[in-house]
Amino acid sequence: MDRLRLPNSRLYSTSDFSDYISVVSANMVLSMERWVGKVAVVTGASVGIGAAIARMLVENGVIVVGLARRSDEIEKLAKTLSDKKGKLYAVKADVSKEEDVKNAFKWASEKVGPVHILVNNAGIHDRTSLIDGDTEKWRNTLNVNVVALCIATREAIKIMRENNIDGHIIHINSVVGHKVPNLPNLDVYSASKYAVTSLTETLRLEINALKLKIKITSISPGLVNTSFIDEETRKTEYIKDLLATRSLNPEEIADGAQYVLSTPPGVQVHELTIKPLHEQF
Ligand SMILES: NC(=O)c1ccc[n+]([C@@H]2O[C@H](COP(=O)([O-])OP(=O)(O)OC[C@H]3O[C@@H](n4cnc5c(N)ncnc54)[C@H](OP(=O)(O)O)[C@@H]3O)[C@@H](O)[C@H]2O)c1
Repeated sequence: MDRLRLPNSRLYSTSDFSDYISVVSANMVLSMERWVGKVAVVTGASVGIGAAIARMLVENGVIVVGLARRSDEIEKLAKTLSDKKGKLYAVKADVSKEEDVKNAFKWASEKVGPVHILVNNAGIHDRTSLIDGDTEKWRNTLNVNVVALCIATREAIKIMRENNIDGHIIHINSVVGHKVPNLPNLDVYSASKYAVTSLTETLRLEINALKLKIKITSISPGLVNTSFIDEETRKTEYIKDLLATRSLNPEEIADGAQYVLSTPPGVQVHELTIKPLHEQF
C-alpha cells in the first residue's frame, strides 16, 4: 500500500509519513543489546532447556553463570562456546540446598559482577503418586521447583536492588502450571508449577509496591523433548504420539526467552506459553 486515507478524507502518500514510519519501526526493534557484557544466572544449565538458554545468552554477549549438580556438563558446553561474544562459567550447586544457592550468587558477584538476569529453570519431577505417594519424593519436587526458585529470586533481587539494576527474572513454568492434564502420576508436579504461576504474579505485585524496575516473566512450555521426559512417560500413548510427530526442542524455548528479554524496558511479557502444534492441553 502506498496511499493512505485518514479521517479528514485527504489522500496521503506514504512518503508524507516516511519520518514517522522510520521512528515507529526503530522503536519496535527487539534488542538484546542492553544485556551485552551483563551477568545472567541460569539454574539447571547442564542439559535441556537451561543449557539452550545459557547458549542463547552467551551467543548474545551475556556473561552467564550456570548452576547445576553436573557442573562438568556446563564446562563441556562452555568449551563449545569459547568463540562467542559472551562467556559461560560453571558453578556446582544443588539448588535444593540454600547455602549452595547463596554461595553461587556470592561467587557470581565477586568473580564476574552483579546479576542482571535470573533464569529459574532447574526443575524436577520425582515421580510418585498422591494416593500412596512417597513423602520424600513430594518434598524433593517441591524443594527444587518452588522453594529453590524463591531462594534464587530473593538472592537475585537483593543484588539488583543494591546495585540499582533494571533486571529481569524468568521462571520456567509449564503448561501444567495452568491446567492439569490427564497424564499418569503427576502427583505434586502440576501443583509445583501452579505455585510458579502464582509466585510470578505475587512477585510482580511486590515489585510494583516497591516500584522496582525489575521484570518478571513466566515461560510455560508444553512438551519439550529432553531427559526430563522419563522412559515411563515416553510410553504413554499420547506422549508417544506427540514425540513422534511434534514436540518442542529446548532451542525453541530459548527463542522465547530471547524474545522476552529483547522487549524495551517499559514492556513486560508476563506469561509466554509455548505449545507444540496440536498439543491437546
Ligand atoms: N521437558 C518438558 O517437557 C518441560 C515442559 C514444561 C516445563 N519444563 C520445565 O523446564 C525446566 C527444565 O526442564 P528440562 O526439560 O530441560 O529438564 P532436564 O533436561 O531434566 O534438565 C533439568 C535441569 O535442572 C537441573 N536440576 C535439577 N535438579 C537440580 C538441583 N537439585 N540442583 C541444581 N540443578 C538441578 C539439572 O541439572 P543437574 O541434574 O546437573 O543438577 C538440569 O540441568 C524444568 O523446570 C521443567 O519443569 C519442562
